[in-house]
Amino acid sequence: MERSQISCYRISETHFREDKNMTSAPNSHDAEPIPAEARAEVERLLATGDLFRYTAASDSPVTLLERDFAQMMGTKYALAVASCSAALFLSLKALGLKPGARVLIPAFTFAAVPSAVVHADCVPVLVEVGANYRIDLADFEAKLPDADAVLISHMRGHTSDMDAIMALADAAGLPVIEDAAHSLGTLWGGRRIGTIGRVGCFSFQSYKLVNAGEGGILVTDDADLIARAVIMSGAYEHNWKKHPVLHAAFARWQNKLPLYNNRLNNLSAAIIRPQLGEIPRRVRDGRRNHDRVAARLDAAPWFSVPAPLGPEERAPDSIQFNLVGLTGADTRAFAHAAAGMGVPVQVFGLSADNARAYWNWEFLGPQPDLPQTRAMLMRACDVRLPARLTLAECDYVAESLVAAAEAVMGSKQAKAVA
Ligand SMILES: Cc1ncc(COP(=O)(O)O)c(C=O)c1O
Repeated sequence: MERSQISCYRISETHFREDKNMTSAPNSHDAEPIPAEARAEVERLLATGDLFRYTAASDSPVTLLERDFAQMMGTKYALAVASCSAALFLSLKALGLKPGARVLIPAFTFAAVPSAVVHADCVPVLVEVGANYRIDLADFEAKLPDADAVLISHMRGHTSDMDAIMALADAAGLPVIEDAAHSLGTLWGGRRIGTIGRVGCFSFQSYKLVNAGEGGILVTDDADLIARAVIMSGAYEHNWKKHPVLHAAFARWQNKLPLYNNRLNNLSAAIIRPQLGEIPRRVRDGRRNHDRVAARLDAAPWFSVPAPLGPEERAPDSIQFNLVGLTGADTRAFAHAAAGMGVPVQVFGLSADNARAYWNWEFLGPQPDLPQTRAMLMRACDVRLPARLTLAECDYVAESLVAAAEAVMGSKQAKAVA
């Protein structure tokens, strides 16, 4: 398909029937403003220069964030760190995995995840992912006997079957780390995602539900694991005494573990803490927006939006869908036409050097091909859908996507008939 042909597509007015006034694309890029309470606290910290989490004798902003986050999640312990990648790395180290330990990860995740495994001196083993973006249980089960640990990325918030995964991992005696970078607010059978495995890791990077630019946190009920993670995160000397964790768990690790210094600073914690109260609203509106667009796309012949698994209650801030019946050239033309309407679409497997396409993780060395995941990545589309969008803006997004697909596929059909 030639570019000139694509730019000739005309999008009919009738595609925008929900809100006739909505003629320009919504801004789906910007995050929400940082709450005033956070700005005031940042100002206070800047005035005093109190930026390091261990300067204050007690109750530093990072410590208070850990307290509030653990309380919100219903876990015993939380450790705030520099990023979700750092949380994943520390979780692997805190599990005491030996160098060369084999860690199962889904083949559909962000490149930082296999990187965290490599950073922890372990070996990632990629598991097939199905057309519904969730881990393929048959491949998982087949690879489990040779594994030492399991790391499940709930990629873009799509929860893999945690009942089956936990049953299989428990039976094999393997620890499970949940990469819940995109899953803050998601429930599985009423339980909070990130609290089902031995340890759960979350991200506060800007394209996540809570935005501090960068930041991460891990949660667990395991006293020994949190003690090891706290020390390795950079609680040097006796700074671990500022963590409300059983002190006996720390004492035996004094001076026995490396310090990787993955700490979070007070400014980031001050930006994050007031956003915790916003989570229920962001989850509610994000789900409303997602379901609105999903329903419109599912009604069109060119799209299929994978449904949530039974026990899953999602907290989306983006939408993923598969293209149906479009060739590679059609897919490119569709993405180009949607972009022309101001709705950027990422097709994971098509954009050059995409960090979520496993064949671009060349730092891992040669990997066996994963045909199922590859096929999914070649037709899976990703569109940002922040919770702050109005329903009219969501309709613009949905109608633009439908119009872009119709423009590409309709003209093809017309040509075939002629
Ligand atoms: C699935 C997944 N896991 C982990 C991470 C790493 O998060 P961070 O940027 O906080 O290190 C990302 C980043 O986007 C991600 O998409």
